[in-house]
Amino acid sequence: MIEATINTAFSSTAGPRTYWIRTFGCQQNDHDSEILAGLLEACGLLPAASLETSDLAILNSCSIRENADGRFYGHLGIVKAERERRPELLVAVCGCLPRIREHQERIRRSYPFVDLIFGPEDIPRLPELLLKRIRTGRQVHHVSETNDPLVEGLPAARQRRFRALVTIMTGCDNFCSYCIVPYTRGRERSRDSDAILAEVRQLAAAGYSEVMLLGQNVNSWNQKRRPGALDPPGRDFAWLLEEVARTGIPRIRFMTSNPRDLSNELLAVMARHPNIERHLHLPLQSGSDRVLALMNRHYDRARYLEIVREARRRIPDIAFSTDIIVGYPGETEADFAQTLSLVEEVAFDSAFLFQYSPRYGTPASLLAERLPPDVMRQRFDRLLALQNRLSEESNRRLVGRELTVLIEGAADHRPGLLLGRSSQNQLVNFALPPELARGLGTDDSERLGEELEGRFAIVRVEEARMLSTSGTALELLPAGKGTS
Ligand code: SAH
Ligand code: SF4
Ligand code: F3S
Repeated sequence: MIEATINTAFSSTAGPRTYWIRTFGCQQNDHDSEILAGLLEACGLLPAASLETSDLAILNSCSIRENADGRFYGHLGIVKAERERRPELLVAVCGCLPRIREHQERIRRSYPFVDLIFGPEDIPRLPELLLKRIRTGRQVHHVSETNDPLVEGLPAARQRRFRALVTIMTGCDNFCSYCIVPYTRGRERSRDSDAILAEVRQLAAAGYSEVMLLGQNVNSWNQKRRPGALDPPGRDFAWLLEEVARTGIPRIRFMTSNPRDLSNELLAVMARHPNIERHLHLPLQSGSDRVLALMNRHYDRARYLEIVREARRRIPDIAFSTDIIVGYPGETEADFAQTLSLVEEVAFDSAFLFQYSPRYGTPASLLAERLPPDVMRQRFDRLLALQNRLSEESNRRLVGRELTVLIEGAADHRPGLLLGRSSQNQLVNFALPPELARGLGTDDSERLGEELEGRFAIVRVEEARMLSTSGTALELLPAGKGTS
């Protein structure tokens, strides 16, 4: 076992004893960091409370937009200063950014102190790469582009007690014209359902209340044949989701659904199983058919609206969230007006809005008709104002209702309150009346948050804000119990 060898190597050399990881990017990157941490802990390392107290610092990067690159390089500067102060600090860079040759070269050239550079495909080899660095004293740069099947059985040091992230597939073959992911994550590969279901059952047995099934495009799970696949060709994501629901885990989330491959069967499965979230994150990107075609999205406005209508017919209380890119090259005022009208028509409960950011190597980055920054900014602000109104209206509709929320911990900016999330993905800050807190041994919200993380509560919503609601708990459900 490489972990055992490492353990010995680290204790016999001046190897690292503690690690610190900073993650940029999506939930897949978050989960990759949990696996990096799991592998390091299997090698005997412990988490450090801060960069300053760590022996090994890892930056798990993202390159989805220019500001993600910027945040990464900003942090690399901070790590550089720490390395100058403590030359014994080991520094590793991984994630999506090193998969882009220009960035890999920039890191080598401008940050020569980085000890390890590796990509998403190389995560299972972290112990081996680290050992090589320790034994040789030389930098190790290992960024594979293998597209191999996902490695099973890796340990994960999970960061949240209430939600476990479960990868069901990786990579993306959609090649939306603006997007870097197919280049950084490689070809689409699905995990076998046996492995996924075994992991979910294990998580349920370990007391997790929620699993989040992850993939860049969950609806194309098992759609690409792969050598050695155990699942027959007819199985799709709707089938998998129903199997996961049947494990009885109290709540299931999934992301991301591409409208292109979303089936009515998936909506039927959601309608049948109350432990599947009453929420669809369905990235729209643009409301203009012309722009959607340029983006290579393979659906149009009419199809998107049809999915929304069908979902609401089958699951009346379903909530919708989305991603939208403002200012795709050549987007006209008329195109943008189409986005505004579609957003209004769907009345999204929440949305992530982005300004178009050219990504080196993608087809869209070669287009000449870039929008002037002030036009982009102005459109972004108009869309944001619209969505803010819709989000607030959505939250206002909840006032007076009783929601079953999964407790995530103490509320961030509301002292004394706890934070929970409904099946519709709405954030609810709430007070726990003393009679419900009795027997918990504390009335401090921080400690209550830790104690109750992963439990369900019934909360009456009393007040709505733009991005959240607040209310009072009426009941605390027994551990391991939850309904939607
Ligand atoms: N696989 C998901 C999206 C993953 S990336 C899907 O297809 O829906 C998350 C979001 O980032 C995308 O939905 C898109 O809105 C945004 N995004 C991706 N590339 C971008 C770019 N070059 N500029 C601006 N936003 C981008
Ligand atoms: Fe990117 Fe499109 Fe794949 Fe999503 S579906 S990851 S936007 S290429
Ligand atoms: Fe970023 Fe890679 Fe995820 S580019 S969004 S971390 S797949």
